[in-house]
Amino acid sequence: MEWKNELTRLLGITYPLIQAPMLGITTPAMVAAVSNSGGLGSLPVGGLPPEKVTALIREVKALTQQPFAVNLFTYEPASWHDRKVFDDMQDFLQFLCGANGLAAPPVNFDSVPYYSWKVQLPVLIAAGVKYVSFTFGMPDAEGFALLKEHKIWLMGTATSVEEAVALKTAGADAIIAQGIEAGGHRGSFLPGELPKTGTMALVPQVIDRVRMPVIAAGGIMDGRGVAAAKMLGAAAVQTGSIYLRAHESAATPAHKAALAGITDTDTLLTRAFSGRWARGVRNTFITEVEASGLPVSGYPYQDVLTQPIRKVARELDNTAFINMWAGQAAGKARAWSTADIFAELVRETELLLP
Ligand SMILES: Cc1cc2nc3c(=O)[nH]c(=O)nc-3n(C[C@H](O)[C@H](O)[C@H](O)COP(=O)(O)O)c2cc1C
Repeated sequence: MEWKNELTRLLGITYPLIQAPMLGITTPAMVAAVSNSGGLGSLPVGGLPPEKVTALIREVKALTQQPFAVNLFTYEPASWHDRKVFDDMQDFLQFLCGANGLAAPPVNFDSVPYYSWKVQLPVLIAAGVKYVSFTFGMPDAEGFALLKEHKIWLMGTATSVEEAVALKTAGADAIIAQGIEAGGHRGSFLPGELPKTGTMALVPQVIDRVRMPVIAAGGIMDGRGVAAAKMLGAAAVQTGSIYLRAHESAATPAHKAALAGITDTDTLLTRAFSGRWARGVRNTFITEVEASGLPVSGYPYQDVLTQPIRKVARELDNTAFINMWAGQAAGKARAWSTADIFAELVRETELLLP
């Protein structure tokens, strides 16, 4: 089959198969394995300190000479936040952790550590990054100008046609259309009700409006999904959940095991971990936060508040208190090497689209 298209030529890749950036899961080895296989690996760095971003990019470059993307969280933190909401949640979580044998240090509201994409941008430029994808919004005009000045190619995440149009107007080079099936955070950024459109409905409507390369994301787990996305007119697919159980995934053994047994109805959208809507597997933490009835701080305040808990739980390989982001079809993920998962995706697609 003919894999090449305008997007593969622009990205300098063989297959229009992008490994989704997955903060906390994607390792430099995973990124490199996909890029070395002829796809586009994506390194997530949302919220990480600049020195960590530099080190991760260096690690990827040591493992591959092929193109890869770096992924940013491009949003403006809320200027208003409620200390009482933060403190009440902190008290509740300290009690909950204590009752479950987890000793997580409390977080100081006045020094919530979080690194904006604005302080990460100079690092990307200095490292010679050529491809950037972003989610949770978009860079401001200054950011776009800087990225364009350095000839960095930009992929923005949209969860509705309106968001796709906004990204195109601002200067994105391609749109990642993220359906409601997708694992992890919703990329949604316009005010109003959270868009909940499925990939099948979203992709063709976005294509018809923006008339530019559109990348389909959400629920694609095998060759059938890739073929379907191609039929809908997508220039590429971006798959995340397919790699959750890969050898190169940073998920702990119990986390990987928990994902092995999930079905189509086992994920839900929640704000419990970060304050932003994200899709993951229900566990004790989500159930208890929801049952508490307490208001949840906005992103990144709730995210920072729950980070120490997730860190301690991870170290104990405890799946009750970590965020197990996963898409609606994540139960199909295989515990193979990233290269084998990628090769199988290519093989299955070629069987369907000779
Ligand atoms: C564990 C996990 C973490 C994710 N983290 C990010 C991220 O850091 N940046 C981002 O743009 N998207 C992130 N996503 C969303 C993916 O980019 C993509 O939209 C999604 O994986 C596609 O749906 P699928 O999981 O059904 O393949 C994440 C998804 C998962 C499953």
